[in-house]
Parts: sequence; structure tokens; C-alpha cells
Amino acid sequence: MDGVLQELERRRGAARLGGGERRIAAQHAKGKLTARERIELLLDEGSFEEYDMFVSHRCTDFGMEAEHIPGDGVVTGWGTVNGRLVYVFAQDFSVFGGSVSETQAAKICKIMDMAVRNGAPVVGLNDSGGARIQEGVSSLAGYGEVFQRNILASGVVPQISVIMGPCAGGAVYSPAMTDFIFMVRDSSYMFVTGPDVVKTVTNEVVTAEELGGASTHTRKSSVADAAFENDVEALAEVRRLIDFLPLSNREKPPVRPFFDDPERIEESLDTLVPANPNTPYDMKELILKVADEGDFLEIQADFAKNIITGFIRIEGRTVGVVANQPMVLAGCLDIDSSRKAARFVRFCDCFEIPILTFVDVPGFLPGVGQEYAGVIKHGAKLLYAYGEATVPKVTVITRKAYGGAYVVMASKHLRSDVNYAWPTAEVAVMGAKGAVEILYRSELGDAEKIAGRVKDYESRFANPFVAAEKGFIDEVIRPQSTRRRVARAFAALRTKQLSNPWKKHDNIPL
Ligand code: HXC
Repeated sequence: MDGVLQELERRRGAARLGGGERRIAAQHAKGKLTARERIELLLDEGSFEEYDMFVSHRCTDFGMEAEHIPGDGVVTGWGTVNGRLVYVFAQDFSVFGGSVSETQAAKICKIMDMAVRNGAPVVGLNDSGGARIQEGVSSLAGYGEVFQRNILASGVVPQISVIMGPCAGGAVYSPAMTDFIFMVRDSSYMFVTGPDVVKTVTNEVVTAEELGGASTHTRKSSVADAAFENDVEALAEVRRLIDFLPLSNREKPPVRPFFDDPERIEESLDTLVPANPNTPYDMKELILKVADEGDFLEIQADFAKNIITGFIRIEGRTVGVVANQPMVLAGCLDIDSSRKAARFVRFCDCFEIPILTFVDVPGFLPGVGQEYAGVIKHGAKLLYAYGEATVPKVTVITRKAYGGAYVVMASKHLRSDVNYAWPTAEVAVMGAKGAVEILYRSELGDAEKIAGRVKDYESRFANPFVAAEKGFIDEVIRPQSTRRRVARAFAALRTKQLSNPWKKHDNIPL
């Protein structure tokens, strides 16, 4: 018995060593952790259960028959995050550069299949030189198998990708189809074609970091949802994100203990909206004051800052927040903010996460650039996402809710369940000045007359009461009591039942 146990330990030791001490040191020298170190940080201590530790590739070309490293460049299995089941794969850059062989792909597919069957999230830690060059089309076939599983798992279990090294070529499309992508600054990049090919084809000269680093993808392309300083911080944030999410679409989001009074009154909110309707204020203040313990996990914080998206808890239960940000572009909706919020709303609806919307929107951003780039189609995404969502929806209009943007932002007309307005709300087709300039064009030369018209219009429409009279606003509330009112609304909606007509799937304007 001793002999076989020793043999087991010897084999395990060899597998744990991956590509060997020299390559592990090289990984550390780049400021990166190894695949196993990353898994240890991601999961609860001692919870990792590894599969396929001894799997090896089957390639016999280019001298590969002589090079077998157990595990084949990826560590896979499951563990727990704060006691909840999670499946994980971590590519091991020390083994053939983490490149994807037929067998590496099969390992990833195995845990993805288990995750879907058992109803638990999949976290992928990506650090790979791409397709295993020696394997050719077998590697591509492996990617295809992973892609297909990403698609089928979408909306069934949460899928989270962390890019912690290279991720290039077609390989980017697996993370791209997952729900969230986190990146590590300075040590990760994603692009379809790298700087050398870009230079050859378009003569543009860029570094890998400029083309596909964390900054590029969180600020410019919106491919990634958040960027972190190092592996440790990124993995800690993945744990934080998982805590907000249900394990699958068969379960409700988790309920956590909370120590914050749902009845908490925030008097400072009574003065959040400035007297001048054109003066901005920070909508994040409202989000933080409504959230349990002021805890807000923001998604895509650096992209389309005119809209804020992220997760909070109210009475210990996860709520997705979408909020116009008057500090940026006056809170206008545009292409980027519509796309950002639409994807977030759809994620929440997939996973039964109720949606809280804070509205201060003067309309859609005007401009040739916006129209040429298809603001019609992209704006429709958000409208569509809100309208198809069947989860509990609570909306609070703090100030402006003008025109089409009023309807889009989780209005009553899109089946929002409870719509509140602050007394400072202005629900109208447009602002008073714009309206008067159209209605009284012939009087435009007479400044005094026009000022009177503006005043009239304001007193008639720049308030929440016209909408409230029609039942489009359920109640005009004191800003200070927003947390209490929102908490009570969501509590009353816990038993909500609503489903859309049967269809194979919808046809959202992509
Ligand atoms: C096999 C690979 C590999 C690959 C790296 N290695 N990429 N082996 N297939 N794709 C090996 C190297 O030979 C080396 O082995 C070790 O991994 C580390 O690589 P280095 O080059 O020493 O590391 P570094 O200098 O950090 O550079 C990393 C890198 C570079 C930028 C990723 O290795 C690279 O350019 N690799 C090729 C990338 C690529 O063209 N991949 C195919 C893309 S197409 P030793 O034994 O020396 O440690 C693609 C299509 C996917 O991926 C399609 C999906 C549908």
C-alpha cells in the first residue's frame, strides 16, 4: 500500500508543479500568480476539489510525444465561495503557455457541463497563449466546444471571466460570451489581432497594452466590466460579485444578514437635488444612501459614466441598480449608456434580480455622431430590455424624466411595478424652454413674453403631479424616506408573478 500511496503523491506533486520551478518563477517575476495560487485565493480555504489532474494531451506532432505535463495547462474543479458552490478553471501559463489543446478544452467543457447540471456559476481564470500551435485544428475544435457551452450556459448559470494574462485571437470569444469580464492592469490583454498584425494591415502602431489592456477595455471598448491592480484584488472582487448572484436561474439570489434599518431616514436626501434644475448632483450619493450598509458593487464604472449600473442589497437581498448620472452629459441617454444599461437589465432579468431605477434624464443625446452610429437601434436595446423584464421593478424619478427617455427608464408603461417620484420630479415631453420655443415661435422676439410662457409651462408641467394625476406615478414621496419606500415596495413584490408570451426567443435589436 505504501508504494502506491507514494506513487500517488509523486504524481500529484508532479502535476502541482505544472511547467516547473523556472517557469513558475518567470510567472511571479511578471507580477502574476500561478493557476493554483489564484484558485486558492478565489475559493474558501481548503474547499477546492480538483478534477483531471493527470490528463495529458494526445498530440504526437512537432516532438510533443516527448513532452507530457500532467494537467495539460489548465487546473479545473469546484469549490465554494462563502460556502456556495462554484466551478472553476484556471489556465496554467507555465504549461505550454496555458495554450488550449484538445484535452485542455475537454477539461474545461467537463466542469462547464457539471456547472449547468448542478446549477452553479463558472469562473474562468484566463492566462493563455491561445490555440496550442502544435495541435492545429484539434485545438480550434476544442475552442468551438467551449464556445457552444458558453452559449448554452448563458442565462442558466452566471459565467465570470477574469483575464490575468494573454487572451488573443478567437480565444477572446469565450470570455466575450460570459456575463462579466474582469481584467488585471498591466498584466492582461485581449485582442482579436495583435499589434504586429495591426501594423501590417493598417499601419497603426500600438502596444499590446494600448490595443487591448485593462484600461482600453474598461474605458473605450466596454468589453471588460472592471479593472484591478493585481491578481489578489481581482479575485477578491470576483468573490464579492458571486455573493450578489444566485447560483443559477433555478434559484433566487442569496439573502444575507443585514444590520441596516430598512426604515432608515436620510434627511440629507431632501436637499440632494439643487434648486437650479441645470445644476448637477451626484446620483451615487442616493444609491449609497439607499443600499444596505452603503455597499455598492459598480459594474462598468469607467464606461458611459452618464449611467450607473451595479448591485446593492436591500434587506439583505440583491437589487440591480440603474441610475442616470446628472454629473456626466447631464445624465442624457446615448448609444454607450443604452448598451451598458440594457445588458445589465437583461442580466438581472435572467437571474431573477429585482431592478431599482433612479431617473434624472433630460432625453437622448443629440448629434450627427449619435444618429449615424445608430442611436435609434442602440437606444431601443434599453427600451426593449426594460419592457421584456419580468422581475420586480421599482422606479424613482428624482428630477427630469423627459420625452422618450422618460418612457425608456422603467416607466409604468413598461410594466414597472412601483413608480415613485420626488417632489422635485419633472415629467414632461421636454424642458420648459425647449417647449416654449416650439409652441410660441412667433413670440420669440419678445423676451418678457417668452419668460412668462416658460414660467407658465414650468408651473404646469415641471412637477410630478400631472403624471401622478394620471396614475403613471404611484406616489410622490419625501426624498428622505426613499430607502424605506423602496424596501417596502420590493418586499411587497417578492411574490410577483409575470411571464411573457411563449416564443422561441426574442429578437432584441442587436
Ligand atoms: C503552444 C505556446 C503557445 C501556443 C506560448 N507557448 N503560446 N505553445 N501554443 N499558442 C509556449 C511557448 O513556446 C513557451 O514555451 C511558453 O509557452 C511561454 O511562452 P513565451 O513566448 O516564452 O512567453 P511570453 O514571452 O510571455 O509570450 C507570451 C505570448 C507568446 C505573447 C502568448 O508566447 C505568443 O505570442 N504565443 C503565440 C500566440 C499565438 O499566436 N497563439 C495562437 C493565436 S490564434 P517554453 O517551453 O519556452 O516555456 C488563436 C486562435 C484561437 O489562439 C481560435 C479560437 C477559435
